[in-house]
Amino acid sequence: MAGMKQHDILIIGAGLAGLRAAFEGVTAGLNTAVVSKIHPLRSHSCAAQGGVNAAINPKDDWHHHAYDTVKGADFVGDQDSIDMMCAEAPQAVLDLDAMGCPFSREDDGTIAQRAFGGQNFPRTAYAADRTGHAMLHTLWEQAIKYGVHVYDEYFLMKITNAETPDGLRASGAVVMDIRTGELHQLGARAVCVATGGYGRMFASNTNAMTNTGDGIAHAMRAGAPAADLEFVQFHPTGLKSSGILISEGVRGEGAYLIGADGQRFMQKYAPNKLELASRDVVSRSMMTEINNGNGKDGGVFLDVRHLGKELILERLPQIRQLAIDFEGVDPIDQPIPVRPTCHYTMGGIRTDKLGHSIALKGLFAAGEAACVSVHGANRLGANSLLETIVFGKITGKDMVDFVKNREGHAPVKPTDALAEVSGHIAQLKARPEKGGVRQSEIRSTLTAEMQENCSVFRDEKRLKSALNAVEDAKEKLSRMYVDDKTDAFNTDVITAIELQNLVLMAEGTVRNALERKESRGAHAREDFPNRDDENWMTHITTHWDAKKGEITLGRDAVRTTGNPQYAPVERKY
Ligand code: FUM
Repeated sequence: MAGMKQHDILIIGAGLAGLRAAFEGVTAGLNTAVVSKIHPLRSHSCAAQGGVNAAINPKDDWHHHAYDTVKGADFVGDQDSIDMMCAEAPQAVLDLDAMGCPFSREDDGTIAQRAFGGQNFPRTAYAADRTGHAMLHTLWEQAIKYGVHVYDEYFLMKITNAETPDGLRASGAVVMDIRTGELHQLGARAVCVATGGYGRMFASNTNAMTNTGDGIAHAMRAGAPAADLEFVQFHPTGLKSSGILISEGVRGEGAYLIGADGQRFMQKYAPNKLELASRDVVSRSMMTEINNGNGKDGGVFLDVRHLGKELILERLPQIRQLAIDFEGVDPIDQPIPVRPTCHYTMGGIRTDKLGHSIALKGLFAAGEAACVSVHGANRLGANSLLETIVFGKITGKDMVDFVKNREGHAPVKPTDALAEVSGHIAQLKARPEKGGVRQSEIRSTLTAEMQENCSVFRDEKRLKSALNAVEDAKEKLSRMYVDDKTDAFNTDVITAIELQNLVLMAEGTVRNALERKESRGAHAREDFPNRDDENWMTHITTHWDAKKGEITLGRDAVRTTGNPQYAPVERKY
């Protein structure tokens, strides 16, 4: 195809998972490219604060890390993936250390580790409260050093397929050069989605503006199902007014949660782990206090005053500055107003334990965009950075093996998708204002509704209301117009297309949440308050039926290892 650029490995998304996968491709001698709608150093991985879990202390053991993760996941995480992640974690952190990542140190020079929620050992390695930032810069340096091809400020418009002798397979992508508006078709022998999550569907969230689920939505349209979309994590401590993250590492350093009455309340809900129970438990406890009148203006408080100025300045400098800038309080002297805030989406493209889609050959996924299901129904803090570097590495290696040894036939020509994509953009630009809807209206109504009716506590009535809002948003998308009809840096068009992706992800989230008639992990149904292991020890898969133009649901079994220690028990902290 004239003008088409061909790569061996094409990775969509250049955060930690994407760059870690690219490292494997490029160092194996394959032509490896990453596509990113923003400069890679602005990827949302950069916002991760508290740290990365790994049993690197000789007194720790990866089996304990694995058990904490299985339990934190409320027993629907895939046990093979969890074992692999926890066993590989120490080496994955040491790889980054060897590449030059500036982890904080103990006095004896070993990597410093702090306590995080839901775990029985202080195994969270960190770089002050800017761990993602430090790791991202390290991997970016490697990408430059080894010559990864970077499509910087290119926006994913479509994942393409091709018919092959052994069925349909992913064959590349159509991307838009944001600077010019020009469309490019990229061919690839293996395509990896590493575009992160879709937390922007909630009005209050800790996520970058970019987290709109683009890669997952396009993968679903290309024939790769998603799974676990109902499981959405609310981080206990977002700043009350803006949702900006205040790291769990702050509680790991000893901070307390207090109500409007000035008293700690977590002993009522998690008598052993208190503020360091797992996130779903802490978020529900905070919402219960707020709903029972012990909050102030919709939030409670995180108190660090007793930690002292010296520790705050040394280990928590960023959160202090965020509290000053965005909440107007200096945590050295005043408690910080916080509330549970959408932080992480456990669902993603359903893959096997090596990151290969269960349905679409040649399509891989890593990081938050994937559902290799190491998090099940609730992720442990600091297992997200870990997932990116372990499964970025594992999936990168598997793509290399796929391209070198398993592809089974010569590279195929993707179906020409440029005309279809450019028609889609032309249609959007041609829509008249008269009778149309502005995208901001669709977005603000949808995100407010998701916040109100599909967040920490759910029930059928609220979820049906959220589903009505999704249906309404879908109808309005067909009338959505843009003001900017030009080509260069047309952010009006880009955010409109992001909204189309976000609405699809919201539909999947709500439909899955209605389907799962039990409470498990972050999915708390007040009308089904108990966990139901007999009927719901399973993943719900979410499929885009292109012919019907609608979502359908299925099931995929939880992958178990037969380890008797992983048998479900009541989760107590
Ligand atoms: O609280 C935090 O620092 C966030 C960490 C995480 O989500 O893993």
